[in-house]
Amino acid sequence: MRTEAILFALTASAAHAFQLPFRLPFLSGEYQTPIVLPDSSISAPQSIPNRIAIVGAGAGGSSAAFWIAKAKERFGLDVEVDVFEKNDYIGGRSTVVYPYGNISLEPVELGASIFVKANKNLWRATEEFELDRVGFEDDDNVMGVWDGSKFRLTTGGGWFFGGWWDKLKIIWRYGLDAPSRTQSIVGSMIDEYLELYAKTAPRFDNITELTQTMGWTHWVAQTTAEFFDSRGIDRRFTRELIEAATRVNYGQNVDSIHALEGLCSLAATGASSVKGGNFQIFEQFLARSGARVHLNTSVTALSQYSKDETSGWLVTTSGSAQPQAYRAVVLAAPFHTSSIALAAPTEMPSIPTQPYVHLHVTLLSTASPAPDAGYFGLLSGTAPTEVLTTWDGVRQGGLKPEFNSLTYHGLIRDKDGEVVESELGKEWVVKIFSEQRIEDAWLEQVFTGKVGWVHRKEWDAYPVLPPTTSFPPIRLAQGLYYVNAFEPFISTMETETLAARNAVDLLLRDEFDSGVCGKSSEAVSINAGGLPADPSPAATNDTMPAKAKASSEFVLGWDC
Ligand SMILES: Cc1cc2nc3c(=O)[nH]c(=O)nc-3n(C[C@H](O)[C@H](O)[C@H](O)COP(=O)(O)OP(=O)(O)OC[C@H]3O[C@@H](n4cnc5c(N)ncnc54)[C@H](O)[C@@H]3O)c2cc1C
Ligand SMILES: *[C@@H]1O[C@H](CO)[C@@H](O)[C@H](O)[C@H]1NC(C)=O
Ligand SMILES: *[C@@H]1O[C@H](CO)[C@@H](O)[C@H](O)[C@H]1NC(C)=O
Ligand SMILES: *[C@@H]1O[C@H](CO)[C@@H](O)[C@H](O)[C@H]1NC(C)=O
Ligand SMILES: *[C@@H]1O[C@H](CO)[C@@H](O)[C@H](O)[C@H]1NC(C)=O
Repeated sequence: MRTEAILFALTASAAHAFQLPFRLPFLSGEYQTPIVLPDSSISAPQSIPNRIAIVGAGAGGSSAAFWIAKAKERFGLDVEVDVFEKNDYIGGRSTVVYPYGNISLEPVELGASIFVKANKNLWRATEEFELDRVGFEDDDNVMGVWDGSKFRLTTGGGWFFGGWWDKLKIIWRYGLDAPSRTQSIVGSMIDEYLELYAKTAPRFDNITELTQTMGWTHWVAQTTAEFFDSRGIDRRFTRELIEAATRVNYGQNVDSIHALEGLCSLAATGASSVKGGNFQIFEQFLARSGARVHLNTSVTALSQYSKDETSGWLVTTSGSAQPQAYRAVVLAAPFHTSSIALAAPTEMPSIPTQPYVHLHVTLLSTASPAPDAGYFGLLSGTAPTEVLTTWDGVRQGGLKPEFNSLTYHGLIRDKDGEVVESELGKEWVVKIFSEQRIEDAWLEQVFTGKVGWVHRKEWDAYPVLPPTTSFPPIRLAQGLYYVNAFEPFISTMETETLAARNAVDLLLRDEFDSGVCGKSSEAVSINAGGLPADPSPAATNDTMPAKAKASSEFVLGWDC
């Protein structure tokens, strides 16, 4: 851990990249029919095709296809993959928009923005796919923590613990050891988390048991506030600074979000985005997987068929009149919003209903170099350009902050990194996260009438994450795996790729007697669902480029 990085980095440094949203040649809008069954009734084809369907082309689904391709490449596994995506783009909750809808300008992340160095799959992907990363740690925004009526703390320019004056202010307010002890707690969580990429990473079909194996039950079973209070961290530090991080990252407060996700909100070392958009990682996963990608195609029903000791899944999509037969299905979308009718003759574990945080994202451009000081009740001076919030004002009977975060993301630039001027002059890009819609009149007030472009998007962004020790099932039935079971545990782009690696590994073992790393690996099986822990030596056929192997540290799945 770099000591200065305690809060999740938030703002884009003025960046420079330009990339056209490219269309990949492998995408097909039409469904290519492999097997057409007589009608939609459950009738098994003669043999079960070696075909896997993936529902969703976000971080989870695209990486699932990539992990399957790794197994194909290593062991000559004979399996075809179809990826179905309801949207007309790859990336799901990772996608960009262009200021003024002008693709000559540098795009802005509309959903997931940041990953960190401990996110080894995404980090490795940017290296192997030669995508440029933009760092976030060196921006010079002034940061303030707003409680709805006043700023609890502001720090000027540079990063959080950048200047001696900021350090003094923080120590004066929260004591000498709150920041450093918090950093060391986050550091040990990350060290433990990194075990998930080791050769000996646990393989799991039950997240509750994974939690126990990792020794993380105390993190998921209590709120972030309970956890830090019990560690003797200054209560105000937790309710102001740590809460600023949980609110911007998950739209939730420290007294409601579980401590594991609270800790993840604080892990900021190496905070980065992909130049031109994080979605490019997911496009590359799919392009390199050789999977057929069916955009604009919703999966509407999944039904299991079994006959003569064979079993498989019939997948009904909006793209074809007839359901298609698959050996297995990877569900890589939140189930309760996927509108999929799920039918299995055998008993399935129920998927607990999972509420998501409904988040309003408002992107805008403004010629105002900072939000209106008057809105924040400042009599003089300039308001911070990175306004995070705490719920602590409300706890003390005060007003609710009208937004979760409001952050400046640098000037609008063109493809050459040149600042572009409109009739308003040069304009900054601003991102606001809120629980409610932010109206035009509010924007006019806060940005002093100098608003240019506005783009609104509502997301079911991430699960509501209360303390719990029970998690959704991963193996829903034979041949049906649920990647997003992982989200109530941790919800990030990276952890969805990790959950996909694990789900694909289970699938390949169950159906093809071989994991992502072959017939066996050193991975330790958590034996809840009777997964065999195979002790025999791996028969590998790893065709990874030697360059990548030599230059990167071991990352399970990429390496075996
Ligand atoms: C505003 C915002 C900010 C965020 N910030 C960060 C961040 O900084 N860092 C970070 O790591 N994470 C962040 N996240 C969380 C992150 O986006 C998610 O954890 C992650 O992207 C989830 O990936 P996924 O593939 O599991 O799901 P999704 O990305 O939601 O992908 C699921 C896909 O399935 C498709 N689908 C659904 N139903 C069907 C169907 N029936 N048939 C076919 N397709 C279907 C959907 O269209 C979607 O494309 C943020 C999220 C939001 C919204
Ligand atoms: C998706 O469907 C919409 C509406 O039917 C259509 O306009 C668009 O071109 C389609 N996109 C792709 C990639 O097939
Ligand atoms: C190893 O991979 C190569 C290339 O994909 C393939 O031709 C070969 O059959 C594989 N060997 C084994 C033992 O699976
Ligand atoms: C898009 O931005 C470029 C670069 O600034 C500019 O030259 C062009 O006129 C813009 N296009 C539109 C339609 O506004
Ligand atoms: C996971 O394991 C826990 C503890 O052993 C058990 O109570 C729970 O039912 C299991 N969950 C699933 C989905 O199998």
